[in-house]
Amino acid sequence: MDLQIRLSRPTDINVIRDLDIKCYDYPLEMAEWQDLLNSSGKDDCARIVVVEMFKKALGFAVWKMLPPESGVNEQVCFLYRLGVRPGVRNRGLGSKLVETCEAHAIKMQADLIRTTVPHFKCKVGDPDDVSGFLHKHGFNATGHIIPEYKFMFGKWTDGYIFEKHFNGVTAC
Ligand SMILES: CC(C)(COP(=O)(O)OP(=O)(O)OC[C@H]1O[C@@H](n2cnc3c(N)ncnc32)[C@H](O)[C@@H]1OP(=O)(O)O)[C@@H](O)C(=O)NCCC(=O)NCCS
Repeated sequence: MDLQIRLSRPTDINVIRDLDIKCYDYPLEMAEWQDLLNSSGKDDCARIVVVEMFKKALGFAVWKMLPPESGVNEQVCFLYRLGVRPGVRNRGLGSKLVETCEAHAIKMQADLIRTTVPHFKCKVGDPDDVSGFLHKHGFNATGHIIPEYKFMFGKWTDGYIFEKHFNGVTAC
């Protein structure tokens, strides 16, 4: 299987936008993607990776090391986006993207990865559920809820925070 995960390039804009629209009910605007792609991988900027099979982009992930919060002694890697094209899901591509994010977070000496998911994507058994996927990868809901996280389908929806702590795992 000719599978590769690579750092994004600015010329990925149309491919990434297409994936984002297919994966998210709240896709980012073109200008936001352009900014993210222009700085992807640079110090203190978000990192975007693309998973390709036979050179066809099938999924992507976006994460960023957050600046330390005052009074909080934790280095957080925030996973902003993770998507695999419908039709090629459940073949392990999402897992490979999470593992890539994880390896980079550990290399950057993060203590944890955090992500936020709209509450309607946390219904076990529902086709859109992602909580099962996150649990499988060692993420747990923190219990903190972000009220009115996203506006979609004509109303505000709350967000659930999930975290995976590394507990001292270091890069080899
Ligand atoms: C979440 C997402 C990236 C998963 O991608 P994927 O390529 O289907 O994931 P994988 O094939 O690697 O799945 C890994 C495992 O999780 C399991 N899994 C996937 N979705 C699941 C769910 N909703 N509930 C329980 N388990 C799930 C798979 O069965 C698989 O288990 P297995 O290895 O024992 O077979 C994909 O569903 C997606 O793009 N969703 C829409 C975007 C989104 O909501 N992103 C937010 C993610 S935080």
